[in-house]
Amino acid sequence: MFMIRIEKNSKMVGFTAAVIIAKQLIKKPDSVIALPTGTTPISMYETIVKFAEYGIIPIAKAQFFNLDEYVGLTRENPISFAYYMEKHLLSKIEKIQHNIPSTNTKNPKREANDYEKKIEKANGFDLCLLGIGVDGHIGFNEPGTPFSSVTHVAHLHPSTIERNSKESGEIVPDTAITVGIKTIMKSRHIVLMATSAEKSDILKKSLFGEITPDVPASVLQLHPNLTVLVDKECAAKITSNASGFHQINL
Ligand code: GLP
Repeated sequence: MFMIRIEKNSKMVGFTAAVIIAKQLIKKPDSVIALPTGTTPISMYETIVKFAEYGIIPIAKAQFFNLDEYVGLTRENPISFAYYMEKHLLSKIEKIQHNIPSTNTKNPKREANDYEKKIEKANGFDLCLLGIGVDGHIGFNEPGTPFSSVTHVAHLHPSTIERNSKESGEIVPDTAITVGIKTIMKSRHIVLMATSAEKSDILKKSLFGEITPDVPASVLQLHPNLTVLVDKECAAKITSNASGFHQINL
């Protein structure tokens, strides 16, 4: 059982995700929040920046953790997630406590362990925002990743490399550090965002299919507090002949 909210377009998915973040920060200003990258959450960041400018969300005491980063890139590299975060959020908001795996290191495995410890020290995520890959990955937890995984070095599937290279206009690295599935599942609230017809099949499989490491996002069916935000295009295959969810108004 989970909550699903169907929005008229992808922009509204991002808007609603930002409203959920804002409510979390208003309720608990020192919240620990996990953040995704990709095209899906761009409007979420735009809205958060606006809310911060309006002065309605307390942000300075919160701790943000990005879910993943490619191995071997500097922060200045435009295909890195650090660059993405700088562009969409960090350069626009003063005094924000932000963490992202630093992968420009000789020892990514140690960095992954240190990142997990940092998350643990912060007492885990109050809220975790997720996108989904067309193969069902969450963060960079590709099909086959054990559900028991914590933050680790991940080898990316050729289809993920191809898709992400197309998006960034440059070949992306084949390894990354990602927060693991177990760490994600410990979050007190998870919000999964999916937009466009491209994600329709995998979302249906993830939410209503077999719970298996072959579809990493299927583990979310076991989360006690999951909210799913989709646009109409993506929802088309889900709302017809499916049950086991509540549609909500926030
Ligand atoms: C990337 C990221 C994920 C993201 C996913 C979907 O590979 N590692 O965190 O959710 O792909 O991206 P998009 O929103 O561009 O479809």
